[in-house]
Amino acid sequence: MNVFLLSLGVILLIGDVVTTQTTKPHIVFIIADDLGWNDIGFHNPEIKSPNIDKLATEGLILNSSYVQPLCSPSRSAIMTGYYPFKMGLQHLVILPYQPVCVPLNITLLPEALRDLGYATHMVGKWHLGFCSWNCTPTYRGFDSFFGYYNADEDYYTHTVDDYLDLRDNKTPARNLNGTYSTNYFASLATDIINRHNKSQPLFLYLPFQAVHEPIEVPKRYEDLYPNIQNEGRRKFSGMVSALDEAVGNVTSALKQNGMLDDTLIFFTADNGGWIPYYGNNYPLRGGKFTIYEGGTRTVAFINGKRLQNSGTVYEGLMHAIDWMPTIVAAAGGIPDNSRDGMNLWSDLNNGSLSGRKEFVYNLDSHFPPLEGHAALRMGDYKMVEGYPGEFPDWYKPQQLPEDSPIKQDKFEKKPYPWYQYQLFNIKDDPTEHNDLSTKLPDILAKMKARLNEYKKQMVPPNFPILPDPKSDPALYNNTWSPGWC
Ligand SMILES: *[C@@H]1O[C@H](CO)[C@@H](O)[C@H](O)[C@H]1NC(C)=O
Ligand SMILES: *[C@@H]1O[C@H](CO)[C@@H](O)[C@H](O)[C@H]1NC(C)=O
Ligand SMILES: *[C@@H]1O[C@H](CO)[C@@H](O)[C@H](O)[C@H]1NC(C)=O
Ligand SMILES: *[C@@H]1O[C@H](CO)[C@@H](O)[C@H](O)[C@H]1NC(C)=O
Ligand SMILES: *[C@@H]1O[C@H](CO)[C@@H](O)[C@H](O)[C@H]1NC(C)=O
Ligand SMILES: *[C@@H]1O[C@H](CO)[C@@H](O)[C@H](O)[C@H]1NC(C)=O
Ligand SMILES: *[C@@H]1O[C@H](CO)[C@@H](O)[C@H](O)[C@H]1NC(C)=O
Repeated sequence: MNVFLLSLGVILLIGDVVTTQTTKPHIVFIIADDLGWNDIGFHNPEIKSPNIDKLATEGLILNSSYVQPLCSPSRSAIMTGYYPFKMGLQHLVILPYQPVCVPLNITLLPEALRDLGYATHMVGKWHLGFCSWNCTPTYRGFDSFFGYYNADEDYYTHTVDDYLDLRDNKTPARNLNGTYSTNYFASLATDIINRHNKSQPLFLYLPFQAVHEPIEVPKRYEDLYPNIQNEGRRKFSGMVSALDEAVGNVTSALKQNGMLDDTLIFFTADNGGWIPYYGNNYPLRGGKFTIYEGGTRTVAFINGKRLQNSGTVYEGLMHAIDWMPTIVAAAGGIPDNSRDGMNLWSDLNNGSLSGRKEFVYNLDSHFPPLEGHAALRMGDYKMVEGYPGEFPDWYKPQQLPEDSPIKQDKFEKKPYPWYQYQLFNIKDDPTEHNDLSTKLPDILAKMKARLNEYKKQMVPPNFPILPDPKSDPALYNNTWSPGWC
């Protein structure tokens, strides 16, 4: 009997029987917050992101990868493989004072990976609900959590509405006032990698705070952009470069620990760039909050020695709901195929066109006070139903609110009624200039009928309007805390 240890696995030769037992890859899953299509170096050479660009171009760029137009919906889809409209999470985001979280009867990605033997660690933004401890990361599959529950917080004080939102597992982290989160999260991620016992596969979930507003960055990153006149865009670009350095540090730690060759790095943003806060999606239309491509077609790639087709661009469709089953498959598990997401792992490796031919961009209530939007993709065609959302035009990077006629209320003055439709051929017209709804009535009718089938599966938005007084951080030592639902 001979035993050979190979770098990618263990081949056991037992008499005439040959068994190949591939070890599980380490998985690092990075989410950038509000990073727009035109906010990364491999789409826009003005942005300095050499580490991310290298991982993307040496890996597999996912060029038709879609997310929801907002944070909690995208993250809930990524973590569950279900459409947000099946979980009541399709309207806006989970607000700090709402007693809402991802339904507790749905298992999340880290639970599935833990079942496969992974150590599971999370550093960064949760935003999937925290009103009960049962909603929070260490109760939903993570061995450890360092991060925050909400959105919009200050990068230095770690407060939301002046109340602390930062935790080391369950304990409020009060001693980090003044520490910039991008650097701190990178150092925590590096510590996890350094401490990790390599005989166990690692799942490191790293949803950075960058580059969501507020627009804050240490000066040395802003100084990388002396040629950008607009102060907001200059700082924003620096925030991307800080994120890029963080990704570089995490990659170096994997390399120094001899883990990089056995790691798959997955990278995506959660939605498009937010136009009033200097994010940019040009030449795509719209941005965060809109159902147009600028809000939903995102920066994404996979990198790893185990991936075939490295160095190519994958044009097949992928949606946020596909990440969970695809990652479970990459980890050697069997995805739960009763969910909405598809396992695209073999398609991605084969470079074959994606198994995904159709998806729902979002499906929301159309009526006040929860006026939302809906859109459906079938092959090359996209149908938008009703109100597409704020900032629905095309914006160049320097064409920012204070420099241009962009006004919050501009679109509100000509709202689309919910029964008004737009139709685009995204393959021929990725920037959505050419509405075909009157030219192609048969396709429009077919897509309306299909959307109506999805509507039958829609759960109403779980979006309580009035703040729950029990959420008040003043009741919890001035900290956003679980324990009130
Ligand atoms: C990705 O898609 C865009 C828009 O359809 C296209 O212009 C571009 O050439 C594609 N490939 C890459 C590598 O970006
Ligand atoms: C979770 O519970 C809800 C409400 O009882 C139910 O409608 C839904 O089907 C359940 N989902 C799963 C995946 O079990
Ligand atoms: C953080 O530090 C600043 C400067 O010392 C101080 O003004 C602020 O109140 C502190 N914030 C918190 C939340 O501790
Ligand atoms: C990356 O690591 C270097 C060296 O330790 C450190 O100086 C820098 O602050 C780190 N950058 C980030 C964004 O964490
Ligand atoms: C790593 O884990 C393996 C298996 O559990 C154990 O045998 C080994 O002692 C551990 N190594 C370290 C350095 O803790
Ligand atoms: C390529 O696709 C075929 C057919 O879907 C599948 O059987 C095969 O396992 C795939 N190969 C890889 C390397 O994923
Ligand atoms: C409340 O917060 C203060 C710091 O703001 C801390 O010193 C104190 O220990 C906390 N009390 C409890 C019960 O957590």
